Amino acid sequence: MSAIAREAGALLLQYFQQGLKIEYKGDADLVTAADRASEVLIRERITQKFPSHDVLGEEQGLNDQGSDYRWYVDPLDGTTNFAHGYPVFCVSMGLEHRVQGQGRRIAGVVYDPTRDELFTAEQGRGSHLNGQPIHVSKAAHLKECLVATGFPSHKRHKNPNIHFYHQITLRTHGVRRAGSAALDLCNVASGRFDGFWEFNLNPWDTAAGALIVEEAGGRISRFDGSPFEIDSRETLASNGLVHDALLHEFSEIFAGRGLSPLPEPSEYKT
Ligand code: IPD
Ligand code: CA
Ligand code: CA
Repeated sequence: MSAIAREAGALLLQYFQQGLKIEYKGDADLVTAADRASEVLIRERITQKFPSHDVLGEEQGLNDQGSDYRWYVDPLDGTTNFAHGYPVFCVSMGLEHRVQGQGRRIAGVVYDPTRDELFTAEQGRGSHLNGQPIHVSKAAHLKECLVATGFPSHKRHKNPNIHFYHQITLRTHGVRRAGSAALDLCNVASGRFDGFWEFNLNPWDTAAGALIVEEAGGRISRFDGSPFEIDSRETLASNGLVHDALLHEFSEIFAGRGLSPLPEPSEYKT
């Protein structure tokens, strides 16, 4: 998996350096030739090594052969950044094994070619960054945390996250919004962020990062604390220590309780 991710990452970097034409999947949902070429390469490599495995990739969809093994592939996570020349993007691949109808995450790889950072995890064997073990942070209070979130490009007018962004910003050191969910999860795993959440992520965004967080000692759940599943569409990851505090904030925000009001723009007009 690592070799495939590195090869796809190198391909992305070539495209990145030469500049690219942006195409649209939706009104602000971008895709480039690099997304497609990366997925073609990844599928070729998986087929060479594991011809019977199923593959779900963002650009080509599901190739279902009835296998117990399924790869979740995001050939380029952070396309909007990539298309604008902002160097925050990666390749993400997660592998699931189905046992008695139950999918278990068994391996995950995220490769950031701009920093040459390879995050890996294997079930029960910990998480690593370029071969060195990584662990989540030790921050125990929200007020000492740096956290991250993301906003979708698709159906963004239907996303309530700006309310959560505002409230959580006021209770932490700040909320970053870097534009690659897979890297956000890896940054929780390596202790750079203490938490991360996002609405409506897809399985290819989270399959690798979820395992990398768990194997680094962190916790991942839905917004009510129930177990995270690959198709949950609610992702809350943390170092574990601040998870309950984040869940509490989420339940308060959902209930509309204790919200700090936003100042009116008119108050600032000179
Ligand atoms: C996107 C990124 C972004 C997140 C969006 C995703 P893409 O993936 O992970 O950080 O906020 O929800 O769709 O489209 O660049 O693969
Ligand atoms: Ca993605
Ligand atoms: Ca993508």
